[in-house]
Amino acid sequence: MLSGMYIHIPFCLNKCNYCDFLSFKSNSDDREKYVEALIKEINMYPKFPLETVYFGGGTPSLLTSEQVHKILSNLNIQHGAEVTLEVNPKTVDLDKFKLFRENGINRVSIGIQSFDDKMLKVLGRLHSSSQGEEAFYLARKAGFDNISLDLMFSLPNQTISDLKADLDKLFSLKPEHFSIYSLIWEEGTDFFSKLEAGIYKETDNDLEASMYELIIEEAKKHGYIHYEISNFCLPGKRAIHNTKYWKNEEYLGIGIGASGYYNNIRYKNVLSISEYYDKISDNLKPILEEEFVDTEEKEIYEYILGLRIIPDGITPKGKYINLCENLLEKGFLLKKDSRYILSQKGVLMANDVFDKFI
Ligand SMILES: C[S@@+](CC[C@H](N)C(=O)[O-])C[C@H]1O[C@@H](n2cnc3c(N)ncnc32)[C@H](O)[C@@H]1O
Ligand code: SF4
Repeated sequence: MLSGMYIHIPFCLNKCNYCDFLSFKSNSDDREKYVEALIKEINMYPKFPLETVYFGGGTPSLLTSEQVHKILSNLNIQHGAEVTLEVNPKTVDLDKFKLFRENGINRVSIGIQSFDDKMLKVLGRLHSSSQGEEAFYLARKAGFDNISLDLMFSLPNQTISDLKADLDKLFSLKPEHFSIYSLIWEEGTDFFSKLEAGIYKETDNDLEASMYELIIEEAKKHGYIHYEISNFCLPGKRAIHNTKYWKNEEYLGIGIGASGYYNNIRYKNVLSISEYYDKISDNLKPILEEEFVDTEEKEIYEYILGLRIIPDGITPKGKYINLCENLLEKGFLLKKDSRYILSQKGVLMANDVFDKFI
């Protein structure tokens, strides 16, 4: 049964130079109005018993703890559920962390991106490296024992030793979990214009691969499990919510631009805030597009998403057994009992492996 919910909070203090997530500036009235609309949307769906709730953004930590509480009190949250909130270091202090915790948040994911002040400026982040670090310590002090940090690599002009310095700092903090994404040059961002203007250039493939290998090696050295392409955790600390996506489980997506998967339909909500409010006030689900997932597509999703969970892999059926055997022969997969998992080579070329299933 469906047991996960993603809630999109589309507000940020400022737009980072690389980011094309759906987010914009807001004032406190905008946020209050949005929370009311979210609650109406939530109440359009059955009250599923939820094992995970994920507030993503944008910057969910711009909400007050009362607003978070109000949203959560409209949900049927199971005992022991994982309730995550994404945090931008510029928006928190010790009291705010404490209040989030008292109001039902038990996991935070802090957007660090880099521990290098010069790089943070290039990225357009409003916080310094020490403010990023401070946010981590404040979350700990407030009692959070499940903290994830978000970083990026393959950044403009970043060298291997810059990355090593970021990793040294990261491991000195010992978060339970971290995500580290290779920069995507998203159209429409300031970074993309600079790329087109020749001010920045993309990291060369060999350097990017060496960076990724360094991350994997260092993470292992520090006791982290590389359990998904961009995600690492201490034993027992996988992100339960995101793991539902990779296991191809259904979940509800709430809020502007959110995606969901419900009753065999993958859907995406409207992208315009005025359209969102119009639909909600008409008592309609604010869905922009829907796609029915048939059995064949469901199976393909299961394999592609399933392979992302590196230690678990997949157990293919039918024609996909031959495909996996072929990928095994070429060294992209390994076999563990009846399961196929990505090899080291497969991890480095994961997108090419996934393409073979389509
Ligand atoms: C929605 S943000 C969450 C945190 C919060 N908004 C913040 O940035 O502090 C999710 C993460 O996606 C990553 N991200 C955003 N844009 C990216 C891009 N163009 N390429 C790679 N990773 C990106 C960043 O690591 C970011 O922390
Ligand atoms: S990276 Fe995070 S803080 Fe920056 S614009 Fe994107 S969502 Fe907002």
